Amino acid sequence: MDFNRRHILGLEELSAEEITLILDTAESMKEVSKRDVKKVPALRGVTVCNLFYEPSTRTRSSFEIAEKRLSADVLNFTLSHSSVSKGETLLDTARNLEAMGASVIVIRHPMSGAPWLLAKELDSSIINAGDGSHEHPSQALLDLFTIREIKGNIEGLKVLVVGDILHSRVARSNIWGLLKLGAEVRVAGPPTLIPSHIENINVKTYYNLEDAVKGVDVVIMLRIQMERQDSEFFPSLREYARFYGLKREKLKLAAKDVVVMHPGPINRGIELSSDIADDAGSVILDQVSNGIAVRMAMFYLVASGGGNS
Ligand code: CP
Repeated sequence: MDFNRRHILGLEELSAEEITLILDTAESMKEVSKRDVKKVPALRGVTVCNLFYEPSTRTRSSFEIAEKRLSADVLNFTLSHSSVSKGETLLDTARNLEAMGASVIVIRHPMSGAPWLLAKELDSSIINAGDGSHEHPSQALLDLFTIREIKGNIEGLKVLVVGDILHSRVARSNIWGLLKLGAEVRVAGPPTLIPSHIENINVKTYYNLEDAVKGVDVVIMLRIQMERQDSEFFPSLREYARFYGLKREKLKLAAKDVVVMHPGPINRGIELSSDIADDAGSVILDQVSNGIAVRMAMFYLVASGGGNS
């Protein structure tokens, strides 16, 4: 099938076939990353701007490496040294970068919907690198890629997402992707951090981690998004860690070959104990490595697709 999209904004709007095409393309891109010369000319002559309004270690670095492996010209926008501090709007900033030749803009922004605004107003291709608590498509795609690589298939797997579901763009994108590819999705966390309507989209809710983890094939642990919380959602971090932190005795209730994932950054000792984070069953650094191939695939498909949506 052809990828007929100019933007990649979220997994809610991608079909199962489009998601599978991205994952299949990422497999070819992973081969490029194994070569001595890790470079192909797919984006030669294309200027890509990384427009990050929020901090990032993994996503920004991984997008930049992906862009360079595809031979793009890379422009990294640094918020703290920009004219945003003088009051320039997001749209004016993006229009100016476009006027300098950026035809692909990778945006991370604290406001949900910011990438859709740019997609509507600009001619450039827009790739969402995380918008507020809404979507983080490249993270979910690399998570799906990692699960498929290890388990062979996603359909029929029992996947549990644990933690701050309410504020997590990673959870939202993963839930859409996992459901579209046929996984059984469970979420667990304090009632205050799980949206009440989530069961309407066929996600099973648990407030008790021991019950939730029973028999699951994959556990995705999430960080508490303190920066997006404007009130107290649980009594204390210590209490949260006691009830919802993943420890060895709880993990024993999962399937024998359970895979533990985390998008990072990890708050060690809160959502995840170090012995699990660093154990052989943890694929956290594989997720990070796979992010490069998946982001290369996203650029490649967007550049070759040329569709309108
Ligand atoms: N997973 C993720 O988005 O990490 P960063 O915030 O470091 O990019």
